[in-house]
Order: sequence, then C-alpha cells, then structure tokens
Amino acid sequence: MIKKNKNKITKPTSVIIFGATGDLTRRKLARALLSLYCKGFMPDKFQVIGVSRRDYSDQQFRNFLLEESLKDRLSEFSKSDINNFLKNVFYQQGMFEDIKTYNNIKKKLVNSDTDLNICSNKLYYLAVPPKYYQGIFKNLANSELTLPCSDKTGWTRVLVEKPFGSDIETAKMLDQMLGKLFKEEQIFRIDHYLAKDTLQNIIFFRFSNIIFEPGWNNNYIEKVEIKLLEDLDIGTRGSFYDSIGALRDVGQNHMLQMLALIAMENPGGFLAGSIRKKRSDVFRSLVPLNSAELVKKCVVRGQYSGYRNTPDVDPHSQTETYFKIRAFIDNKRWKNIPFYLESGKALKRKETEILIYFHDAKRCEWPETHGTRKHQNILNIKIFPDEGILIRFWAKKLGLLWDLEPKDLEFSYNRSPEDGVGEEYNKVLLDCLQGDQTLFISTEEEYLAWEFITPICKNWKHTKLHHYRKGSQGPKIDI
Ligand code: BG6
Repeated sequence: MIKKNKNKITKPTSVIIFGATGDLTRRKLARALLSLYCKGFMPDKFQVIGVSRRDYSDQQFRNFLLEESLKDRLSEFSKSDINNFLKNVFYQQGMFEDIKTYNNIKKKLVNSDTDLNICSNKLYYLAVPPKYYQGIFKNLANSELTLPCSDKTGWTRVLVEKPFGSDIETAKMLDQMLGKLFKEEQIFRIDHYLAKDTLQNIIFFRFSNIIFEPGWNNNYIEKVEIKLLEDLDIGTRGSFYDSIGALRDVGQNHMLQMLALIAMENPGGFLAGSIRKKRSDVFRSLVPLNSAELVKKCVVRGQYSGYRNTPDVDPHSQTETYFKIRAFIDNKRWKNIPFYLESGKALKRKETEILIYFHDAKRCEWPETHGTRKHQNILNIKIFPDEGILIRFWAKKLGLLWDLEPKDLEFSYNRSPEDGVGEEYNKVLLDCLQGDQTLFISTEEEYLAWEFITPICKNWKHTKLHHYRKGSQGPKIDI
C-alpha cells in the first residue's frame, strides 16, 4: 500500500496570502492554517503574511481573523494555541496593482530570512478574484519575489484558485505569464473537491473491488448523473459571481473532476503524474459541444428569480445560476453513455452526489405481476450531506408470493469531529507545503477542461435562460 506521508514541515516557511481579508481567507484559509499549526504540521518557524487593501496593523489583522474566522474554533483548539498561532501572523497593506506592495513584502521576507540566517520556503497564495491574477503575476515578476534566494534550500511555490481564466484563451494567456515565473512543479491549482474523502474514495472503490470494475462500462451502465445542488443563493458574492456564473464557478472544475474520477482508466498507482494523466485522458475524449445546435440540444441554463436584485449584480444580468449538461465521452468504455452534469444555486436543498444507473436486468421476466417496472441497479456515491455509498438492488419479498422489492446496501463514513469536518483546505495546504501535486490540476487538465467549457459559454446566447423559483428544483427541462 502506498502511503502518502503527512509529516511536519521542518524548514522555515512563509505563506503570503493575497486577498487576506476576503471571503476565502475568512471562511477557509485562516482556519486551515490554524488547524495545521495546532496539529503540529507547521514548521517551528513559520509566518503568514496577509496582503490586502484595508488599512490594518498586524494586530488589527490578527483581531480581524480572530473575530471573523477563528473564534468559533475555541471548542476545538485552546485559546493559547490560537494566540500562539496568531503571533506568527503579519499584515502588509497594499493594492495588488501597485509594485510598492510587492517591494514591501520583499523587505519583510528579506528581513525575516536575514534574522534566521536562512533562505526560507515561500508560498504565494492567490485568494483573490481571477481579475487580479494578471496584475499580481506581473508584479511578482517585476519585484523578483519569485526568484529563489538560494539554489540549494528554500522552495518557492504558488497556489491559485479556480476559475483560472474565464475561457481557454485567457487561461492560456495567464498560464504563459505564470510559466515564465514558475515551473510546473511549483504551480498548485486548487480544486478543493479533489481533497474530499468521498471523491478520493472513488479511486479506491473502483480499483480495489473486483466486483464493480467488470461492469464499469457501456455494456452495463445506462447513464451517469453528477449533481452539485445548493440551497444557498450567491449571498454577498455578487460582483465575483455575476462575472463568471455557475458553469465557470463549479462546472469547469468540481463537476468535470467528478466526471473524470468516475470515467478514468486505472492509474496503476497513486503517483500524482499517473492520476493527473488519466484524468486528462477523460477530458480529451469529451465530445465537444461546439455549435449553437448542440448547445441548444444538450444544455439547460437557468437563473433564480431575484438574482438580479442582488447587490453588485447587473440588473439585466444574463448570468446563469443553474446549468444542466448532457455530455458524452468518445472512447470504448463510455461510447453513447450520457453523463448529466447538474448544478445550481438557491435550490431546494444542498446535495452533492453521483448516481450511476445500470441497465435493467435482462432476464428478470418474472414475476408477471411486475408489468413494466424496471429492475435497475443504482449506485449512489454520496458526497454531501451524507458521505458514503448506497447500492440499490432487488430482492425477493418475504412470504408466499414470488415478488420483488428494492433494497439498499449502504455504507456511510459517519465522520466524527476527530476525522475532521470540512478539512479540504487543510489537505490542499499541507500537500502543497509537502510538494505533492495529486490533488491539484495540471496545466494539461486545465486547458482540456476549458476546451470543453468555452464553446458552451460562447453559445449560451442561443439558449433560453429559464427563470426558476428560489427553493425549487430548478428549471424542469429535459435534455
Ligand atoms: C466553490 C464555489 O468552489 O464551491 C462555490 O465557488 C460553491 O460557489 C462551493 O458553493 C461548493 O463547495 P462545497 O464543498 O460546499 O460543496
């Protein structure tokens, strides 16, 4: 069994977060860093430097994190642990477009390296909306912040959030800039879905249980549904969301990654390179939806009523908050099997799951009383709120009659607090600090995913934008 080592990082490390007062830092990053610190994974000497526009001192930034992000961790971690963590947190005020900001960060980094007499590791985390990426890359280059301080010790890495670009052209343009600053092994593109246990389990489940693999193809499977449904609306993310929409927000990344894990071939091990390659192969085989006719036939898009009244949203916005796509994979295993990808905001419930429908059992002609009822097996991979797997099968009913009824075989992770709740960001941060790229998107995957999504976005205008009621199940349109 290959064990991915999760050891403490030993070398002094600086984590520089662009967007330090933003939504992501508040909701995820600060907690993840605190948790890694309290669980003993952070090096003895580390610092977090938050970079943002607000005019804060170090202490004001610490208070902000405590109030907005860490306070509700008091039941999990002691007050002294939290305070000790915060002593390693610093702040740099500045605009992302202004080279002065970067020169100031550089001064801070040079000072701390000189104090320690070492070339420390440096991780730049871009927790900002994609529109800032270009400016940040340019200034990182101009300030020479990305140049290693030694060729022997101290790595430099960059973590970027999705969506990386807004279509294939912008993704390539950003990548060219990024490629001049960092090598592929220094670039970590996050998709936090890959860090979910239930998604990682798909690889284990498929390739470690011989009973499933022989039927994992178009001879046995009728269709696959991948759903990421959310009850919440877009809240305060109006400006960000209105510029990207649901397909770029979760379709280009989380949904396609789920599809890749279901459809990929056996990677033959847990090495990052082989897994990333097999995921890419799936994207390469996706049948493009590259004409207005195809998009009309295979895509539904919707917007919840009231969306246009959200602060920072265009009152005439055509941005989708819901989509459903029927996709096909053109290879031997999956030819002609539809994969339905469905996601939306402000729906009835929050639920993420993958449903694999098998063909009817052909020889199940009895009992006659059953008429045309389908005897279909369904495999349900549950991601949220339950985490586990359910298999629907058919069994004889107790009693005199020869009759059948559906039954479920089910396992659930029943996660306890010690197993970590919502720890995806802990995992991605730790893996990045340790240099393991399995959970990150390669450049190849990034391009191939955009190649599938971009023509759909370009042809949106030919499809109707269906309005749906908040709290409903979204537009009821068949494709
Ligand atoms: C994020 C999207 O990447 O994923 C959000 O930007 C979405 O819009 C979220 O709500 C869903 O993630 P999870 O882990 O809550 O299912």
